[in-house]
Amino acid sequence: MAAGYFVTGTGTGVGKTLIGCALLHAFGARGMAAVGMKPVAAGCENGKWMDVEWLVAAGNVFAPRALVNPYALIPPIAPHIAAKQSGIDIDIALIRQACLELQKIADVVIVEGAGGFLVPLNEHEEGASLAQALGLPVVLVVGMQLGCLNHALLTAQAVRAAGLPLAGWVANRIDPEMIAFDENVLALERRLDCRLLGVLPFEQNADAGKLSVRLDIEGMEPG
Ligand SMILES: Nc1ncnc2c1ncn2[C@@H]1O[C@H](COP(=O)(O)OP(=O)(O)OP(=O)(O)O)[C@@H](O)[C@H]1O
Ligand SMILES: [Mg+2]
Repeated sequence: MAAGYFVTGTGTGVGKTLIGCALLHAFGARGMAAVGMKPVAAGCENGKWMDVEWLVAAGNVFAPRALVNPYALIPPIAPHIAAKQSGIDIDIALIRQACLELQKIADVVIVEGAGGFLVPLNEHEEGASLAQALGLPVVLVVGMQLGCLNHALLTAQAVRAAGLPLAGWVANRIDPEMIAFDENVLALERRLDCRLLGVLPFEQNADAGKLSVRLDIEGMEPG
């Protein structure tokens, strides 16, 4: 089994970092050396890229920043535009190499994609090309809100079209007011054709460590 998972989502701000961190805690709790990776982070806050900070804090293995986050872009905009503005060309081969290095020092690498699955990374490649290059099974985070059924099904289709397995999906309640929540979860359970790893409630200041017990990762340990 591949030594890690690629965490994608139905879009930006749907809970990829939170669930990536929860997965790191869950694997760590099973005695595995777990490290997070955010290959492309766009948006610097007070000198920090918060996704990277959260993922580093949730893992239990020290890894150099250059491996965890090869591309740290300052503007909080689409990665290929942020990269272009910074005079940088995102190189998927370099990210793949960094991921291979992380796999040497950890049992499981949790890689958080940027935005949604097809977000462009450079002039001719997108998130899907990165996931393909890494060859990792995909965990799909569905931000439960109106419109998520279409986004979830389109994303699942794109993951499979990229030739990657869907290891599972997570229903993340980002909209506490969502109407017919259970019916929406059920609609996706029936159609996504992969395992539901967990249903996460809306929780102000959500704590990834606490939420990790809600994820069923039985049988997902690499190796
Ligand atoms: N279940 C939840 N309950 C309450 N707040 C949540 C929940 N899931 C995520 N959030 C909040 O929503 C925001 C976006 O979550 P997160 O950063 O994990 O999304 P993301 O998909 O990683 O975003 P990005 O595309 O920017 O990387 C964060 O402030 C997070 O704490
Ligand atoms: Mg994130």
